[in-house]
Amino acid sequence: MQSRNSVTRRRFMGGAAAALGYAGLRPTGLLGWDSPPRPLRLTPQEYDYDSFAKLSSNENPYGPSERMMEAMNGAWKYANRYGYPDGDIQQKIAEHHGVESENILLGAGSGETLRVVAHTYLGHKKKVIGVRPTYLSVFGVATGIDADAIMLPLLDDYSQDIPAMIDATKKNYREVGLFYLCNPNNPTGMAVPADDVRRVLDEIPEDIPVLIDEAYHHFVEDPAYETAVPYVNEGRKVIVARTFSKIYGMAGLRLGYGIAPPDMISDMRTYTTGSVNALVRWGGVAALEDLENERFVRETTLRLRKQTTEELQAMGYEVLPSETNFFMVNTGRPAAEVRAAFRERGVLVGRDFPPMLDYLRVSVGTEEEMARFMTAWKEIMPPRTATTTTSG
Ligand SMILES: Cc1ncc(COP(=O)(O)O)c(C=O)c1O
Repeated sequence: MQSRNSVTRRRFMGGAAAALGYAGLRPTGLLGWDSPPRPLRLTPQEYDYDSFAKLSSNENPYGPSERMMEAMNGAWKYANRYGYPDGDIQQKIAEHHGVESENILLGAGSGETLRVVAHTYLGHKKKVIGVRPTYLSVFGVATGIDADAIMLPLLDDYSQDIPAMIDATKKNYREVGLFYLCNPNNPTGMAVPADDVRRVLDEIPEDIPVLIDEAYHHFVEDPAYETAVPYVNEGRKVIVARTFSKIYGMAGLRLGYGIAPPDMISDMRTYTTGSVNALVRWGGVAALEDLENERFVRETTLRLRKQTTEELQAMGYEVLPSETNFFMVNTGRPAAEVRAAFRERGVLVGRDFPPMLDYLRVSVGTEEEMARFMTAWKEIMPPRTATTTTSG
């Protein structure tokens, strides 16, 4: 039985895949999203949602600013309309990036944008190139439409193996429909240097669309990182995905967008649902204008991340260097066990990210939430002595 499974799997991965050591989409369960780890993943209805420190989904704990709330409240008068003034959100986003309005495709969160991109470019059983672990939205669509994936392992330092991704793309050229680069990557929090992004675009065949997911752009400090938006102006086959869920605190409201050349935008438009509502549009405009709020969220988040990761390192725990509003810490034992202990103490932390099963992903919450996290950590995790730590 075991050998039959392994033969099937080897066939599925194919010769080149096996040689490169990458994983595809099947057998199911491989990616870890289709086997809910109950009882840890209770729905918000099943537990006392408000009482928990929610450090599991990389949200912004502060929510929309006063200015954004005011703008949204002022838009209630359009709730009964179809066509209404919407603060010119699409134009405002375009100006924010120095592109044209025709380069922008709005979505209900960047999650919609990622799904739209996947549907547009992964039909006819195409393959998506990416790494494992990474953000899985695109790969989820691929499974649903019978497309396939080439998911390459991360390097030993948990960075993305850009040369291997380029190589796999070239080797599978005719079957590859999309190249997905999460920058910085979720769940590791690590950024891809601008030189490597350029290398991808210069070295893979130029007709392969590259989706660069910059959900955590605003938290990056690494000077080697740059946004990929200028490539859109160069006319490259690039889609940059951005969200209002993280820095602007609108995860529950749903606003995101893709930035791409106009011909790609019109190919993608077919798959959108047009579900961005009046309140959210006005909230988005105010978010872009409220620079003080943006600075507050960024600075507070980075300060609390530094403080928490330094404390963990002082206790002897390895923390991956993060450029985001979350970080990964090596627990040295199955993170699922640690997560359960946190839940008992009213703290929710990230799920499993195979194959990094000993790492816990922790989102940066408020000062009070991070204090709760550290109190629980000290109860659950004994201090360690000699170990190598990486600065976070
Ligand atoms: C890398 C990445 N991309 C996209 C998203 C989707 O966010 P949203 O749909 O809220 O914009 C997330 C959410 O956590 C994410 O981590």
